[in-house]
Amino acid sequence: MRVSPVPSPNIWHWPEVYERENRAQDAAGAIWAALREVTDWAGADVVDVGCGDGYHLPMFARTARTVTGIEPHPPLVARAEQRVAGFENIKVREAGAELLPLKESSADLVHARTAYFFGPGCEPGLAEADRVLRPGGVLAIVDLDGTRGPYGDWMRADLPRYRPAEVERFFERRGFTLRRVDTEWRFPDRDSLEAVLAIEFSAPVARRAIAATEGLTLPVGYRLHTRRKPSGLLVPGGRIR
Ligand SMILES: C[S@@+](CC[C@H](N)C(=O)[O-])C[C@H]1O[C@@H](n2cnc3c(N)ncnc32)[C@H](O)[C@@H]1O
Repeated sequence: MRVSPVPSPNIWHWPEVYERENRAQDAAGAIWAALREVTDWAGADVVDVGCGDGYHLPMFARTARTVTGIEPHPPLVARAEQRVAGFENIKVREAGAELLPLKESSADLVHARTAYFFGPGCEPGLAEADRVLRPGGVLAIVDLDGTRGPYGDWMRADLPRYRPAEVERFFERRGFTLRRVDTEWRFPDRDSLEAVLAIEFSAPVARRAIAATEGLTLPVGYRLHTRRKPSGLLVPGGRIR
């Protein structure tokens, strides 16, 4: 299977600014709390697909047994490896969601944050996640919520053909549960806030977003789609154990 990375101009071209973005995102930890309500990864084997430069790997590694970051863009693999040097339970592999270099039934949680799983087209990654998950394991997809303003309005202004409701139906039809998560991005200064908005949006939309945002915080809605791999034997008509 050929892996063709989904272009991510923000982190590919401006990894330092993206680092500031990651630090600002979800200041109160609402996404982590929502994830933990679905599954606790203490003692578990975790895979982070599209891990970028590995920002979230150490957080999982605090309690997980092992953490594997999967990333197809070589410069980001190198940055992620640098970040996790010294963590014995973290590995980073250069690969894509469509072909995970992992054994079947070897993970308890496959997580992806704003990476690859954007709706139609991500079916090969869904199948791979299912293959590597153990029965009872969870696939958790975190993405920006295009239905929630003001951030979602700016996203849709730049992507007029993006249909958030269709993406939600895509995951719902495949057995995912949707949770909406309200977060706050909190920046240390205006320079960081403006730099981040400038890498996320086209110049006109970024100007609009900057003008509309007072102070150092920004409400941003996320969607958390989760699906648990069945742990019993499935037969027509129901699960028998
Ligand atoms: C917006 S970044 C998010 C990175 C990271 N999850 C984070 O939150 O910091 C999206 C990432 O997905 C990666 N990506 C692109 N195509 C991919 C694919 N086919 N499989 C896995 N990851 C992919 C990109 O290279 C990029 O690092």
